[in-house]
Amino acid sequence: MAHLQIIQGDITTMKADAIVNAANTALAGGGGVDGAIHKAAGKKQLDAACAQLHGCPTGEAKVTPAFNLDAQIIIHTPGPIWQGGQHHEAQLLANSYANSLQQALNYHCQTILFPSISTGVYGYPLKLAAPIAIKSIRDFPANLQVSMVCYNLPTYQVYLSAANL
Ligand code: APR
Repeated sequence: MAHLQIIQGDITTMKADAIVNAANTALAGGGGVDGAIHKAAGKKQLDAACAQLHGCPTGEAKVTPAFNLDAQIIIHTPGPIWQGGQHHEAQLLANSYANSLQQALNYHCQTILFPSISTGVYGYPLKLAAPIAIKSIRDFPANLQVSMVCYNLPTYQVYLSAANL
């Protein structure tokens, strides 16, 4: 079982073995946490590393070096775009968390930071996404130290309450 902590802050300023990015399927960079991660890691070098991966399907996860971030790797996962809930969004969101954790294991990472995948630009309702994120992390069968990094107070409060903390 992975151990989960909920914290508030800017994921790009934090130290861990692996930092997860809420990416898009082109791995082309963007706004939100993706833009912040590309900027902090070094945009040119991270863009070039992402370009070599030839995209990533929704719910899967691919790895680059972390460059200027205080981490060993960045795990890029495109979460689902919310389309009303009848388009496998819940399963795809759970896949994003589980496949990211599997990549962390593949790269021998012990400490992992997640942003709140899909709940920004991709429009996944926070109150529905938080319990899926938490269950996916807690159910993952490895002894990892995982933190959900919530950028703002409302997000932090929803995750805390979904985690019963
Ligand atoms: N640290 C932690 N969380 C952050 C940060 C940060 N520095 N910046 C933004 N966030 C939070 C947002 O507040 C939101 O709760 O990340 C969460 C996810 O929001 P988005 O970044 O919009 O990600 P998502 O909804 O998965 O949409 C992905 O947005 O930027 C594009 O290229 C990306 O097309 C992709 C889409």
